[in-house]
Amino acid sequence: MNTSDDFAKRVEAAIKNPKNLGELVGADAVGTVGNEECGDMLRMWVKFKEIEGRRVIDKATFQTFGCETAIAVASLATELISGKTVEEALTMSGDDLAAPLGPLPPLKIHCAQLVEGALRSALAPDEKRAESQKLAPTLLQQFQSPKRESKIIILGSSNERRS
Ligand code: FES
Repeated sequence: MNTSDDFAKRVEAAIKNPKNLGELVGADAVGTVGNEECGDMLRMWVKFKEIEGRRVIDKATFQTFGCETAIAVASLATELISGKTVEEALTMSGDDLAAPLGPLPPLKIHCAQLVEGALRSALAPDEKRAESQKLAPTLLQQFQSPKRESKIIILGSSNERRS
């Protein structure tokens, strides 16, 4: 079995039972990103808790209009960042978040970057976070909303667009 087969099997295993899928009611932070290359989107919710004077990530969840790799990486990411501070979570790259899947094929690197982008968007400075809280509760509702005022950060571009 070659590396690509291993990767495909790990993705398959991860998406069979994705962890932390769906809106997180009462989340402290929400981040949404889109990828201009493939058109996929991913939203991540994060809730914090205090442990011994440290503010750490209690739970993270996600929704995506994305490929199987994005689902697998997001599922893993929600588990990997649990218990970390914002600063610790922000040190994690897309590669780190996808590490349990093994090396990503070149065409799938942006899928992990989509997850990293959503995480960074959720953990962004307060003024950005406040803006992201205006999002519709779910990604689907966001698309169905007649008045989509939220800011979506498009990865792979320095531009931000309002939709
Ligand atoms: Fe777009 Fe994977 S192909 S996120």
